[in-house]
Amino acid sequence: MKFKFSILLLSIIFTSTTFAIDTEEGKDMYEEDCTQCHDSSVFTRKDKKVDTFDALKKQVHRCVTSQGYSWFEEDEENVTAYLNDTFYKFSETTDSE
Ligand code: HEC
Repeated sequence: MKFKFSILLLSIIFTSTTFAIDTEEGKDMYEEDCTQCHDSSVFTRKDKKVDTFDALKKQVHRCVTSQGYSWFEEDEENVTAYLNDTFYKFSETTDSE
């Protein structure tokens, strides 16, 4: 009984840490890895490329892979969420895939 309970507890902890979007973490990763080529003015420039949440996700992925970073999917999600919260502010953040 006690054993079963700890398994349950562990799986709750595990699921919540794996899937929670963490924009603070995203900010740290962005500041550490993403500021060599452009600063955040590209996100607010007049002719910015990204115009949907989906496009933002794709662009983040492109920039991550172009650098050969081995980020986890959740790292990309955290950075995407951080950029969206801070600059783009798309309200449609559901995954269309
Ligand atoms: C090797 C240089 C380089 C690095 C490092 C880089 N980017 Fe980029 N990024 C670019 C270039 C170049 C563009 C502009 C592309 C264009 O104008 O079409 C861009 C554009 C973007 C845009 C779209 C801006 C818009 O127009 O709306 C986003 C979002 C973005 N980068 C996110 C990131 C993130 C997140 C990281 C960190 C993983 C990152 N970039 C790291 C080169 C880089």
